[in-house]
Amino acid sequence: MMHPNLPRLKSAADQALKEFLSQWPSDAGDGLYAPIHYLMELGGKRLRAVLALSAAEAEGAPYQVAMPVAMGVELFHNFTLMHDDIMDAAPLRRGQATVHKKWDENAAILSGDAMYTLAQVAIAEVPGKGLAPALKLFNQTALEVCLGQQSDMAFELRGDVTVEEYKEMIRLKTSVLVAASLALGAIAAGAEGERVKTWYRLGEELGLAFQMQDDLLDTFGDEQVGKQIGGDILADKKTYLRLYTQEHGDADVQAVLAKWNGERDATSTKVQEVRGAMVQAGADAAAREVMHAHVANAMECVDALGLDEAHRNWFEFLGGMVTQRTS
Ligand code: IPE
Ligand code: IPE
Ligand code: MG
Ligand code: MG
Ligand code: MG
Repeated sequence: MMHPNLPRLKSAADQALKEFLSQWPSDAGDGLYAPIHYLMELGGKRLRAVLALSAAEAEGAPYQVAMPVAMGVELFHNFTLMHDDIMDAAPLRRGQATVHKKWDENAAILSGDAMYTLAQVAIAEVPGKGLAPALKLFNQTALEVCLGQQSDMAFELRGDVTVEEYKEMIRLKTSVLVAASLALGAIAAGAEGERVKTWYRLGEELGLAFQMQDDLLDTFGDEQVGKQIGGDILADKKTYLRLYTQEHGDADVQAVLAKWNGERDATSTKVQEVRGAMVQAGADAAAREVMHAHVANAMECVDALGLDEAHRNWFEFLGGMVTQRTS
């Protein structure tokens, strides 16, 4: 099950990023750029770049007009991963050591900062009248991602997080960038007003589904994920899985949650037992149901855009990819 747009747009983004980053070689800058090249060369799905290019094409422009925003959102995404892995004490990313493990935290902080700046450098190349709205949306998005990450960390220590709060937290930490990727691609192609807003709403829904699958993979995935499985459970992350289990689990399930809550130095036994409690409560099936509802909402936005059949099929494929992915 493959769509030709995926390798086509992903390799175009990969090629452009490689050329862009060659301006700051790995062996220059006293080591500042080496972690950037390391993380970027570990790969990744390049979803945000592909979305930006796809929105531009769907607006009838050549994808090339959206390459500055595609590079900008992808560099920004990778910067957030570099800092997120410090915050989450994550040892693995894309199947390899995280930057703060391979180097140290200082390297991950500063190379991350540099990467954020490079994202701005890329966005600044948006041609013509799209530049001002693109910069405005990009910076608003960056601030919202910080807000979401702040809530994600604050929620680790709270026991009374609601599903509504969870949804807003993942909207901020993940969805707004997926949304901005589409909206910026459309802006680069000359779209304005309500149309840009519809692209944004599409991305918000897709992003909510995307983060729910990310949470499912963190708990139920295998080595294909390329990240430490069970990291969310170890850190007491307030995922939908966790909140549903808290709300619907029977007394045995509650006892398991209570036993492990706050045990940050625990290892595989905590992960196994909490995962078992989640399954017993039916949290995985419930999460999948909510996730699919968000994809359905996203497809309503696709319909509202009135795309031709080829573009509609492509976005349907992307919706399926978000929920069926294994990495
Ligand atoms: C991981 O993003 C972080 C989230 C926002 C869930 P991706 O799953 O898109 O990571 P890569 O870029 O493909 O590695
Ligand atoms: C990531 O959420 C959100 C951002 C990076 C902004 P996660 O912490 O779940 O992402 P992964 O699972 O480490 O990729
Ligand atoms: Mg995180
Ligand atoms: Mg993380
Ligand atoms: Mg995750």
